[in-house]
Amino acid sequence: MTANELRQKYLDFFKARGHAIIPSASLLPENDSTLLFTNSGMFPLVPYLLGEKHPAGIRLVDSQKSFRTEDIEEVGDSRHNTFFEMLGNWSLGDYFKKEQLAWWLEFLFVDLKLNPARIYQTVYAGSEDGQIAKDEESITILQELFTKYGVSAEEGPATTGKGALGSGQELDFSKQRIFAYRDKNWWQRGDAVGELGGPDSETFYDTGKEHDLAYGPHCHPNCDCGRFLEIGNSVFMQYQKTANAWQELKNKNVDFGGGLERILMVLSGQDSIFKTDLFTQAIARIEELSGKKYADDKRAFEVIADHLKAATFIVGDDRGVPPSNTDQGYIVRRLLRRAIRYGRQIGISQDRWLKAVAQIFIEDYAAAYPELKNNQEFIFNEFDKEEEKFERTLEKGMIEFKKLAAHDLDGVAAFNLYQSYGFPLEITEELANEHGLKVDRQGFMDELKKHQELSRTASAGKFKGGLADHSEETTKLHTAAHLLLAALRQVLGDHVSQKGSNITAERLRFDFSHPEKMTPEQIAAVEELVNGAIGQGLDVAFEEIPLSEAKETGATGVFDSKYGDVVKVYTVGHDNGGRHASWDNIFSREICGGPHVSSLKGLGSFKIQKEEASSAGVRRIKAVLV
Ligand code: ALA
Repeated sequence: MTANELRQKYLDFFKARGHAIIPSASLLPENDSTLLFTNSGMFPLVPYLLGEKHPAGIRLVDSQKSFRTEDIEEVGDSRHNTFFEMLGNWSLGDYFKKEQLAWWLEFLFVDLKLNPARIYQTVYAGSEDGQIAKDEESITILQELFTKYGVSAEEGPATTGKGALGSGQELDFSKQRIFAYRDKNWWQRGDAVGELGGPDSETFYDTGKEHDLAYGPHCHPNCDCGRFLEIGNSVFMQYQKTANAWQELKNKNVDFGGGLERILMVLSGQDSIFKTDLFTQAIARIEELSGKKYADDKRAFEVIADHLKAATFIVGDDRGVPPSNTDQGYIVRRLLRRAIRYGRQIGISQDRWLKAVAQIFIEDYAAAYPELKNNQEFIFNEFDKEEEKFERTLEKGMIEFKKLAAHDLDGVAAFNLYQSYGFPLEITEELANEHGLKVDRQGFMDELKKHQELSRTASAGKFKGGLADHSEETTKLHTAAHLLLAALRQVLGDHVSQKGSNITAERLRFDFSHPEKMTPEQIAAVEELVNGAIGQGLDVAFEEIPLSEAKETGATGVFDSKYGDVVKVYTVGHDNGGRHASWDNIFSREICGGPHVSSLKGLGSFKIQKEEASSAGVRRIKAVLV
């Protein structure tokens, strides 16, 4: 059976049982800031699982493009992909456990003709605090079903906790077929209040592989040794998270997710998803390019094939993103660069070879995902550009790496490779690994954070300044804006904060919070204060200090939440004493990126030309220096 046939068979099976076939949603979520990528079939359907009416009805079926970043490291074990298709069927408050489990097993045993003796099911063991009971209902249903299909289905010993070690005893797989777990059989997408969750029942296929004792003394369905392969999960999505409990939803939903690639692997009697028709052409192309065989370096072939497929789908999505240094784009960059590096490892030496593999995927998926073909030029272009960029930095980076590789790499060294040579942390780690070295991952993360905060500070400073240029006149007016804020706070009160500014060489425009129109007297008082400071020829100085210290010493700052750890603080005062000066000597103290004049001498005379409403609760002043 081909992947296309399997996908169609599944859709048709549920269509015949009253389900509407819906198209896959985009891989790039539209209105959700919690996830970078669609990571399951249920994700685009959350509103409907919560009770919104779906236009196609209450029974839905689809095959959803999905991507899981957390699986990047797992690729290479023959059964993990970052990109995969999730077969899904849904009941939105319609059918429940009995129909779901019966249909799914019918599909496996009758339509796909899988041997029931090879299938094992897990169910929910109940919550530790007793709030949610053990799923006895599913156990009873499953026992009846397995009996009908002619296999023994006793319940084995339950496993509470995460179940990593199984039940701690030898299981009799010839009799026992149903096993209860606690954490392993509770599905929820995230931890936030409002997330959906519920007990689930997972389906495992027994590959018949010998148990590997490295994973514990006894095998069990959730054991990671590779004997049992999870191929599907029926989630009984009937709860929503509140602050401290799980509340029953109005609707009892079913969310089923099955891995198309894995089911295909089982059906085709293969021991690797990379030997199914979803990968064979691409693997063959990589063999051609490298002159090596898949069996020579399975891990390298799998990483290349997986990553290039995922990148093809992400870039080729109708909401596709190219490689970059942020968010989804950064993931694409990591995928492509990792593929390139593994390509070098297996001896691929052609220029611009990524698109040759992408082209295979575009053809393989032409029928199910025509957007890839439509976006082919974009994909090829972006792949070429990234290859070029990475090659340039890789050469230089390898020289640098070899210099550093005399000993373990600290966070600064790893960050330098990232920053200057475009080495994602993973690549540095893999290279280090090959040289028997360690990388300080936490140190890298600390450096990255520091860097991000500094660049944020710099851009916040720039925004705040709202400067048209850095000419002398503009700089003078920028300093005058600081004086203006300080004077407004003295005259109107501490509720005044800056809401925005725009400064050119001719004038300054300044928005600030204040509920009412300023009186002529107040305007005159502000002008007098500013001109008084200028008349004294006060000094302007800056220092770079932690944000907490800046706040403690009374600095004003508009874009607080965007600032990082270390900020620049400008002080206008008598003795250039910065934070050490007493407030008596300080006229203004503000968090700001600059630039400013170093002294108020020669600033000229400050004049407010206009005071008007800007928006609700915000006033706008236009002022000049003459
Ligand atoms: N939502 C379930 C999963 O992703 C089906 O496993």
